Order: sequence, then C-alpha cells, then structure tokens
Amino acid sequence: MSQRKLIAGNWKMNGNINLIETFADTFSKINLADKIEVLICPPFSYLEKAYGAFKEIGISVGAQDCHHEIYGAHTGNVSSKMVKECGGSYVIIGHSERRDFYPEEDKYFSEKVLRSIECDLIPIICVGENLHERNTNKTETTLKNQLEPFLIRELEKIEFVIAYEPKWAIGTGKIASIDQINSAHNFIRNTISKKYNGEAAGEKRIIYGGSVKPNNCVEILNSKVVDGALIGGASLNSKDFLSIIEDVSKSLN
Ligand code: PGA
Repeated sequence: MSQRKLIAGNWKMNGNINLIETFADTFSKINLADKIEVLICPPFSYLEKAYGAFKEIGISVGAQDCHHEIYGAHTGNVSSKMVKECGGSYVIIGHSERRDFYPEEDKYFSEKVLRSIECDLIPIICVGENLHERNTNKTETTLKNQLEPFLIRELEKIEFVIAYEPKWAIGTGKIASIDQINSAHNFIRNTISKKYNGEAAGEKRIIYGGSVKPNNCVEILNSKVVDGALIGGASLNSKDFLSIIEDVSKSLN
C-alpha cells in the first residue's frame, strides 16, 4: 500500500475544458516527485477528459461523490461504476458541502464506501467539526460520530483515506493551527486503531483539508501525522497547485 503523501485537488463545481488543458500543459513540464501522489477531482462531466489529459503525466483523477447504488432510477446521480469507467481511481465521500446541502442518512455513507471499493475506487472519507463544535470542545465527539459509520469490518484490509476538514476552515482562509491539525489527526488515528489491527490501521492515510495554500502547505504537510492534503480553492490555479506540490516535495527531502 502506498504511503506517499497524497495531494488532492477538489475543483468542486468549478473549472472547464480549458483548465484541464492548462493543467496538462503546466504539469507536463515537471517531474512529479515520487514522494507525492497527485489527484484532481473535477466535476463529473470533465472526468473522462481529465483522465485522458492527465494519465501520461502521472496525475490520477477522481469524483467528488457517488451514489450508494450501482444502477437505478436515481435521476441526476452518478455511480462508482460510472466513475471507474471514466478513469477515476478515487471518490470523495461525505464532503461537508454535500452533508450540508444534500443531507443523507449515515447508513448511505458506508453504502457509498462499499460500492466504491467494489468498483475498485479508493474512497476519501471526509470528517470535520463546525465552529460551534470546536468552540464547545466537541471536536472529538463529532469526529468519532462521523467516523463510526465508516469503520466497518469490510474496510479493515482495504485502502481508504480519511480527510480531516474542519468546516470553519473550508473556503474561509482560516487555517487550523498545526496543533489543532495534529491533535485531530492523532485522534482519528487512535479511533481507527481501536477498530482495526495495528498494521491495517497504520496504513490508512489521514489528510488535511481547509484553506491549504502555497504559503502554509509546507508546515502542514511536514507534520508526520499528516499524510496529504485535500485542496479546494488553490487547486483551481495550476501555478498555485504546482507550487504546493514542488514546495512540499522539496521540503520532504
Ligand atoms: P478549500 O477547500 O481548500 O477551498 O478550503 C477544501 C475542501 O473543501 O476540500
């Protein structure tokens, strides 16, 4: 199982065909470091195009969500099988913007994870507290409750990624402090270790998301308990995204 740091761009409902071409052009001139795995999650409609443009330059692609079934009468939805067929290798599940605007019962999150692993996708499972929970010392309770539906026996030996994304840091420019990040990541690691045996628990990557930018990426990604980053805004600018990857890569030498 790969233990490279994962730097993932979540384009959300942004970008266009030109942006894919710009990224392909910018990244074709560099050697992607073997310490870092690079992933872009564009809107679903661009997935196949992005896969075609990025596969030769070593960037993987993924989707921002999937349905909990493979086929069916679910107008407007996309299944993990469809993501796979379009070249996806990852799928983000439970992003806070999905949780807020398209609320779903917890059981569907674990169903989505199961469908994605059946289709050979690596799920990136998002968890994170809101500001009120942070200010009332409920961060760990929230993380535990959000993790619970995912840490099922079927996943013990399966590769998956947890993204710790404090809601108050997403798209706000308010970065969590390195102490807050380390403490949340340690808590998540311990929670996983209580469910799975040591080796299997140790192999799951825990990445951070929330206002990661070129000026703060090195400090965050140099933390030994941070296995990567999920990046929204700064992943929409190919030069910013590249500088994050290059700076982090140099700092890991
Ligand atoms: P941000 O988004 O980097 O713009 O804060 C992160 C995310 O939503 O995954």
